[in-house]
Amino acid sequence: MSRRGFLTLADIAIADWPAVFDRAALFNQHRLGTSLAGKTVAVVMEKASTRTRVSFEVGVYELGGHAVVIQTEGSQIARGEPAEDTARVLSSYCQAIVVRTFGQERIAAYARGSTVPVINALTDQHHPCQVATDLFTVRDHFKKLTGLRYAWIGDGNNMAQSWIEAAGMFGLELVLACPDGYGPDPQLVNAARAQQAQTGGSITLTTSPEEAATRAHVLSTDVWASMGQEAEAAKRKASFKGYRIDQALLDRSAKDSIVLHCLPAHRGEEITSDVLDGPRSLAWVQAANRLPIAKAILERVI
Ligand code: CP
Ligand code: NVA
Repeated sequence: MSRRGFLTLADIAIADWPAVFDRAALFNQHRLGTSLAGKTVAVVMEKASTRTRVSFEVGVYELGGHAVVIQTEGSQIARGEPAEDTARVLSSYCQAIVVRTFGQERIAAYARGSTVPVINALTDQHHPCQVATDLFTVRDHFKKLTGLRYAWIGDGNNMAQSWIEAAGMFGLELVLACPDGYGPDPQLVNAARAQQAQTGGSITLTTSPEEAATRAHVLSTDVWASMGQEAEAAKRKASFKGYRIDQALLDRSAKDSIVLHCLPAHRGEEITSDVLDGPRSLAWVQAANRLPIAKAILERVI
């Protein structure tokens, strides 16, 4: 583990992930531990959060430590203190800093200023704690990660991009259906495809949700407008029409397929209520799994 912590999935080596997942599985059996006794973790939230904030806060508590949540409003972040300076000071009090922010360059600035590990709690480009949870949820359900077809339906956003990184690292067969102009960063796709020369799998980009969903074992989606894109919401609503996981799309998938959504969901937009609350949906298990994964990641980086 590099001192910079966990800024993308690749910051935990491929070979170390099985141990992280096994540790998380153990935390689902035994919630309490002492590995963070006497330790304090700062949780910096520059964007809204429910799951990430609470799972880290509870996770630190259940491992015997203490979490301090800092939100933009009410802290000097709102008054423009540079990320490096904030991180430098926080790292003199705390053993890790969990950060949700905007650009990846801003979390990199936190990591530069910090002398303790920084954990990415979502940026505009990546959401590694969530996709780690999703991989854990799939592995727990299917007892494997490869030999499955993964479909991403919707925006080529932070979630999609962490899935692409995962596809490169773990050799997954991933098909992404994004509307024209809303695809993922081509550089990330190329890097993951290059890694697949060693790890296997494939990454396919299409504009057809039907093509992506056909024979898929794992179907994932996310909101059409992410945090920070509120002004584009109306335009996106028009562009993403049809990029919805509904029963008709699900009917094309494998007969044992599952549906994932990182939540919060916009019911009736990217996913229908009957699918989200239906028998194929693991979204609620997935949300619960944020807690054991938060603990496993904290232990790994600290
Ligand atoms: N999935 C997720 O990160 O949820 P929050 O925005 O509520 O943290
Ligand atoms: N793509 C979403 C994920 C929220 C958990 C966003 O960035 O807002």
